[in-house]
Amino acid sequence: MLTGRRIVLGISGGVAAYKAAYLARRLVEAGASVRCVMTDAATEFLGAQTLAAITGEYPVLGFFDEPEVSPHTALGQWSDAMVIAPATAGTLAKLATGLSDNAMIATALAAEGPLVVAPAMHTEMWDKPSTQRNIATLLADGVTIVGPAEGALAGGDVGPGRLVEPEEIVAAVEASLNRDLEGWHVLVTAGGTREPIDPVRYLGNRSSGKMGNAIALAAAQRGASVVLVTAAPALRMAGVEVVAVETAQDMADAVWARVDDVDVAVMAAAVADFRPVTPADEKLRRAAGPPQIHLEPTPDILAGVAGREHRPFLVGFAAEAGSLDGAHHKATTKGVDLLVGNDVAKPGSGFATDTNQVTVYTPDGAADTWPLLSKTEVAERLWDRIRATYESG
Ligand code: CTP
Repeated sequence: MLTGRRIVLGISGGVAAYKAAYLARRLVEAGASVRCVMTDAATEFLGAQTLAAITGEYPVLGFFDEPEVSPHTALGQWSDAMVIAPATAGTLAKLATGLSDNAMIATALAAEGPLVVAPAMHTEMWDKPSTQRNIATLLADGVTIVGPAEGALAGGDVGPGRLVEPEEIVAAVEASLNRDLEGWHVLVTAGGTREPIDPVRYLGNRSSGKMGNAIALAAAQRGASVVLVTAAPALRMAGVEVVAVETAQDMADAVWARVDDVDVAVMAAAVADFRPVTPADEKLRRAAGPPQIHLEPTPDILAGVAGREHRPFLVGFAAEAGSLDGAHHKATTKGVDLLVGNDVAKPGSGFATDTNQVTVYTPDGAADTWPLLSKTEVAERLWDRIRATYESG
């Protein structure tokens, strides 16, 4: 519910703007006070009078000829959260760069609460590298992106680019205001470690860091103070302190130095189990023939945390291939509170995908299998589960 919440609805100029009237209605029904701001192009698709009738307030249409002296700052300061639906490709570009040449973007800049953006455009425009770059920037800035969905588009075309249904946007606005992890200190590990063989080569694995990044970002958006120890290329993420590491030893040092200060540790990294004993100082040459590389075990970071006297609530991961028997075994033997297993051999699950299908185990071996979800949704559900288990124990 959004009872008592003050929501600004920004509407930019795409044909899906007609759905914004229904969205405004749903926000009001959810208990919110709603004020709208429209771009010039949006007024070609939807009447300002319609929104005025639904919300009880005439929309802001520009910087000038408005009752307020500074309509964008007044609206931004008034709001608890802002949602832009539909967001055109041009609006995404302006949001990503802060180009506030209309009152809607200026309001987004002036607002301090969460921002939810629901893109809608033709598939070709959605797929353009520039649009995808802007989406990545907005995600890193902590903006919630909802959709687009796949379906019928303007002019009879079909594909990804359709505005998601208003109910889904209302749910995203509600979620964006959820600060249920406020006051929590959490540590997340991510990515695949790299163990040097020589100055050029390493032993590594296929982990992309996407699952760990999603877990860190979701916690930060829900109000937690987050440290992300990552061996993946370090992304900038709003509200997340990123500690970049390369090897299992680096990761162990970084985790063990910080873990006494956190309430929850989520170990999503794929850590090498073995490393070359002595990496060569110089590049190994082909002419010297196949090298003999002697390996030794790396530190078991998770075991080092599990063995602490005052350990945090501990979540382990297990990437298995073909069967989850290994994940079940790890849940019951590794001293974790929860273990997230996934079968990386399954389509849509595993490394470098944007989706994951996981089974969550408790130390008694009980399993809860979730459907195939986006990694963002897996992260949200995981925090719900961690919170429920943490608070009941
Ligand atoms: N892990 C760790 N340090 C290591 C290896 C793994 O902290 N040196 C963590 C991972 O981040 C994960 C969990 O332990 O949360 C399980 O990792 P996994 O590689 O599946 O477990 P292993 O015990 O190495 O089992 P195996 O390689 O036999 O599957």
